[in-house]
Amino acid sequence: MPGAGDRGAPRARWLGTGLLGLFLLPVSLSLEVSVGKATTIYAVNGTEILLPCTFSSCFGFENLRFWWSYNSTDTFKILIDGTVKNEKSDPKVKLKEDDRITLEGTTKEKMNNISILLRNLEFSDSGRYTCHVKNPKENYLQHQATITLQVVDKLEEVDNTATLIILAVVGGVIGLLVFVLLVKKFIAFIIKKTQEKKKECLVSSSGNDNTENGLPGSKAEEKPPTKV
Ligand SMILES: *[C@@H]1O[C@H](CO)[C@@H](O)[C@H](O)[C@H]1NC(C)=O
Ligand SMILES: *[C@@H]1O[C@H](CO)[C@@H](O)[C@H](O)[C@H]1NC(C)=O
Ligand SMILES: *[C@@H]1O[C@H](CO)[C@@H](O)[C@H](O)[C@H]1NC(C)=O
Repeated sequence: MPGAGDRGAPRARWLGTGLLGLFLLPVSLSLEVSVGKATTIYAVNGTEILLPCTFSSCFGFENLRFWWSYNSTDTFKILIDGTVKNEKSDPKVKLKEDDRITLEGTTKEKMNNISILLRNLEFSDSGRYTCHVKNPKENYLQHQATITLQVVDKLEEVDNTATLIILAVVGGVIGLLVFVLLVKKFIAFIIKKTQEKKKECLVSSSGNDNTENGLPGSKAEEKPPTKV
């Protein structure tokens, strides 16, 4: 029985979330969670893969809670759950979903590393892995970062070599073109220089001709009128 009164609730929640968001905005910049640059990583079935996760907090932390969750099209589960007492202690695992998972890294010495290692990879391990961190010292602020794992038959290195070959060929062609252009320019330069030399010779010889034949002659002709 939906009434007008029910509609108020979601709106109020939206408003509340909005206000909370505004309130948390300056604070939320302090707790950061990172899974590195790669958004998708590929791993071969049967092998192992490290899912990286580090966090940072400029306020420091105490009894920090962390967990990794898994999400694919049909499954959602918490893989590992634990706490870190403070900056001088290593994480304590309280729950682990699978024996193939181990927590790697350390939270001592500002490493803040809560990466997990997944062993004996199966194709069904493909999915999105999210690393969550909640800091009681920062109003139980929670942050997370997600990395996608793709378990494959074999890593396709052929694509890389093909790309490399294409790049090499393109690079070679461009290099050749530049070389040809340079040679052309050089030849043109040489031709121009030799022509200029020839011209210079022509100009100087004609100039000599002028001074030897024309100028003395004109001077001789000009002298008499200036004396008059
Ligand atoms: C990966 O899966 C393929 C296909 O199911 C299988 O042939 C291969 O042996 C597996 N590799 C490993 C290392 O388990
Ligand atoms: C799992 O991922 C789907 C999208 O692929 C998303 O709609 C859903 O909310 C996620 N579940 C959880 C619990 O995060
Ligand atoms: C986190 O710890 C793992 C395991 O010791 C290591 O391989 C990885 O490089 C560390 N990550 C960072 C960002 O230090």
